[in-house]
Amino acid sequence: MNLSTPRILITGATGLLGRPILHACSAVPGWRVTGASFRRGGPGLERIDLSQTAQIPAFLDRLAPDVIIHSAAERRPDVSEKDPAGTQRLNVGATAALAHWAAAHQAFLIYISSDYVFDGTKAPYTPASPTHPINAYGQSKLDGEQAVRAAGRDHAILRVPILYGEVESLDESPVTVLAKNMLNARPGERLAMENWATRYPTHTRDVAAVLRQMVTHKLTHPDFSGIFHWSGDEPMTKYDMACAFARLLPFDPARLVPDNAPPASGAPRPKDCHLDSSALESLGIGQRTPFASALPALLAPHLRPSPRK
Ligand SMILES: NC(=O)c1ccc[n+]([C@@H]2O[C@H](COP(=O)([O-])OP(=O)(O)OC[C@H]3O[C@@H](n4cnc5c(N)ncnc54)[C@H](OP(=O)(O)O)[C@@H]3O)[C@@H](O)[C@H]2O)c1
Repeated sequence: MNLSTPRILITGATGLLGRPILHACSAVPGWRVTGASFRRGGPGLERIDLSQTAQIPAFLDRLAPDVIIHSAAERRPDVSEKDPAGTQRLNVGATAALAHWAAAHQAFLIYISSDYVFDGTKAPYTPASPTHPINAYGQSKLDGEQAVRAAGRDHAILRVPILYGEVESLDESPVTVLAKNMLNARPGERLAMENWATRYPTHTRDVAAVLRQMVTHKLTHPDFSGIFHWSGDEPMTKYDMACAFARLLPFDPARLVPDNAPPASGAPRPKDCHLDSSALESLGIGQRTPFASALPALLAPHLRPSPRK
């Protein structure tokens, strides 16, 4: 690995998480950073359909990365439940192909995984806790982890929980979509908000900073590898998040109705997958943005002045 001017490839660089990773890594002097995307283009981005796994070796031969941060995935549990084969092609097949190339070329692969590899019954979870996904998405992310581990030993798996951050549209994140639902509600309409599962919303900018720190650490600690967790530390239900949004939106919080039952439709969701982040913290790696402090800047580009409804 080239330690002073490493080539870094980021897959999923147009996504909710990929954009801040691209931004954070591109700001490091000496790092030669390339983002890969699929449908969305952009200056300097390489386009590839990673589900066409046969194309991956030639793509990587051409870019010759020292580090691959693999963020591309199908990450919508309800889509995965309806299309498990398509999800497996991207979340597992592409991951396996990237991992094989990385192992054969002494590149360091960081695979972004999910708290949904756990069933949510025994939080908090350490990286060594037994996995047990309860939906097709969680299973595909766990299968992706296993493909990474089967290919070699020089890799990191970073599990993260529900993400929010700067969005192109409010429905891009499972957190900011709550604000969209509130803004789209009819005047005076009461909105039921799930108050059953405990989540730890985590800012994409913090995950990107953690990834930048992990790569920096790897450059000086060649033995650094394994499974790691990074999570925000504020337990919140979707109802709690909606109440935080209501303070900033033209929306009367009294219209929010807590729904204490598990979701009746869609992919099954775990109740509490709190990720123990202490392994990275013990290395001095980490960054956390308080949830409420992040919201005004995230919402501002998506709000038009209007009276409280
Ligand atoms: N979002 C969350 O709350 C959350 C929670 C836990 C873990 N994660 C994990 O975090 C990672 C990033 O998720 P995200 O929220 O950033 O996802 P996202 O916003 O849906 O972005 C997905 C990215 O993957 C790319 N992509 C999709 N299909 C592709 C294909 N066939 N070939 C190549 N690239 C393809 C997309 O490219 P184009 O847009 O250019 O098509 C986009 O850049 C994923 O591994 C996900 O499992 C996310």
